[in-house]
Amino acid sequence: MAMITKFPYDFIGEILISQEEIEKRVSDLGAQITRDYQDSEKLLLLGLLRGSVMFITDLMRKIQRPLTMDFMSISSYAGAESTGFIRIDSDHKTNINGWDVILIDDIVDTGYTIYTVRKLLLERKPKSLRVCAMLDKIASHKVDITIDYCGFEIPDYFVVGYGLDLDEKGRNLPYIASVDFEKYKKSINK
Ligand code: IMP
Ligand code: MG
Repeated sequence: MAMITKFPYDFIGEILISQEEIEKRVSDLGAQITRDYQDSEKLLLLGLLRGSVMFITDLMRKIQRPLTMDFMSISSYAGAESTGFIRIDSDHKTNINGWDVILIDDIVDTGYTIYTVRKLLLERKPKSLRVCAMLDKIASHKVDITIDYCGFEIPDYFVVGYGLDLDEKGRNLPYIASVDFEKYKKSINK
């Protein structure tokens, strides 16, 4: 009989951030954004697909201000290593000129993605632009960027869950976990 894939996966290492911790932090971020955008009439949450989907849908429910959301889909040009060259697979629909934009991503690693997308968005003349990331591998930054709203700072581990994936696996885990790459290698060689 064929082996059925176990869930949660065998390759999950350690739970680094629990579901409860995420809920609490997302609530706090929402409250902070609510305060900071009290006077904003045009607030746009602009998420990067696909990793930020779970975060953005939770966060927006904790923001007590009128808002709209939009998405961009971005990919790195080459392989797994961040190169700084990114390609827009799908652009946002909103004309962001005059909007208070919060750019939202799941995780910042080298920072190239945020750095590049931020520069592009500024050319489109939003009224304001801030950056929000669920996770930040602060020791891995290779460019100078500011994260205005950060969920958690984490060490340089590869993580999955809460929207983040390893080769499309693990996005629907409700917590953030490290990956055991020994076990992962075995699981893909089965
Ligand atoms: P950066 O451009 O190097 O900052 O890379 C950011 C992007 O790389 C994120 O939007 C994620 O898609 C991906 N990424 C970086 N680290 C991880 C990780 O630990 N797990 C899953 N995806 C990651
Ligand atoms: Mg991403």
